[in-house]
Amino acid sequence: MAKVKKGVDWETFGKLRGSEKRAYFTRDGNIFHVIMSQQFDRKFLDEICALATKVRGISKGNKGVLFLQSLLQGKRAMLYFVQPSTRTFLSFMAACQILGIHCSEVRDTSTSSEMKGESQEDTVRTFSSYVDLVVMRHYEAGFAERIAFLLNQTSRPVPVINAGSGKDQHPTQALLDIYTLHRSFENYGGIDGKRIAFVGDLKRGRTVRSLVYLLRNYEGVKLYFVAPQELQMGDDLKQYLREQKVRFEETDNLEEVVSSVDAVYMTRIQDEYDEAGESKHIDYSAYRFKKEYLKILPPNTIIMHPLPRREEIPVEIDDDKRAMYWRQVRNGMWVRVTLIATIFRKDKDIKEY
Ligand code: NCD
Repeated sequence: MAKVKKGVDWETFGKLRGSEKRAYFTRDGNIFHVIMSQQFDRKFLDEICALATKVRGISKGNKGVLFLQSLLQGKRAMLYFVQPSTRTFLSFMAACQILGIHCSEVRDTSTSSEMKGESQEDTVRTFSSYVDLVVMRHYEAGFAERIAFLLNQTSRPVPVINAGSGKDQHPTQALLDIYTLHRSFENYGGIDGKRIAFVGDLKRGRTVRSLVYLLRNYEGVKLYFVAPQELQMGDDLKQYLREQKVRFEETDNLEEVVSSVDAVYMTRIQDEYDEAGESKHIDYSAYRFKKEYLKILPPNTIIMHPLPRREEIPVEIDDDKRAMYWRQVRNGMWVRVTLIATIFRKDKDIKEY
């Protein structure tokens, strides 16, 4: 059996840079675990985008639907989602169903032996014995990574997909965001050289963090971080961007940015991470996409949002052809199908269909 790279302890592993951890998330040079955006390179992103488009095409006919369903028939996935989620949960479930994978789910640990004092690590390891894939959403940063590391040490490692880890990362959302950008700019020179604004709670928004990590793979992009001072992008990511020579600017003037960028990525305030209701005191009103902005928004600029939204984008904007957030949702399902198929080495079958 092919081996997943082993040989370091957790402490040494923790000190590695994201790009250095990559080897531990692959198997025979192919993707195995999906944990953090730093593990992906441009070649992989281009392949996932091309393959997702192929999958969408295949799914349009009955024969294609049956083909996709046959790809991973008999495989089982566990959706371990212990932080509130319905859209990502259902997106993964739909992706599994499209590929013929059966799903089991854990949503609430109060009915599990964790109540008997079992560690979460032991719980997940036990459940992983019943399945071929673990998809995991957790309130703690780094938890999915620890499980992937732990399973690598066992005789039966199964792939782990991080479906959102605390304030830290949400790599599959970032992949679907890349696919959405890729589709939107396909006839306009691609993602290279584009100016992308991130608006809102950039400090605690994991979707933004993961997407920013992916964007370093594109030439000449420029990022704008539009946020109240208290919620500005973390120093760790800004440092990363400087090292990667990605240009960025911090500002609080949304109106000015809206008229000059290629994509505006809105986010909601992540107040579930408040320690003492501190975000109640932040004036978020300047970080909403006002209806009037549609007039100054360039004709090919797109509006994105990972959803769920609050008041950052009024519903009147939904009908504008530049509003891309409902497309993002649908793209997400196809990207997850593509990703899971690739993890199980079915990418070749899809390419040849
Ligand atoms: C995001 C998340 O969970 O981080 N939602 C999602 O997965 N689409 C964004 C959010 O909750 O604000």
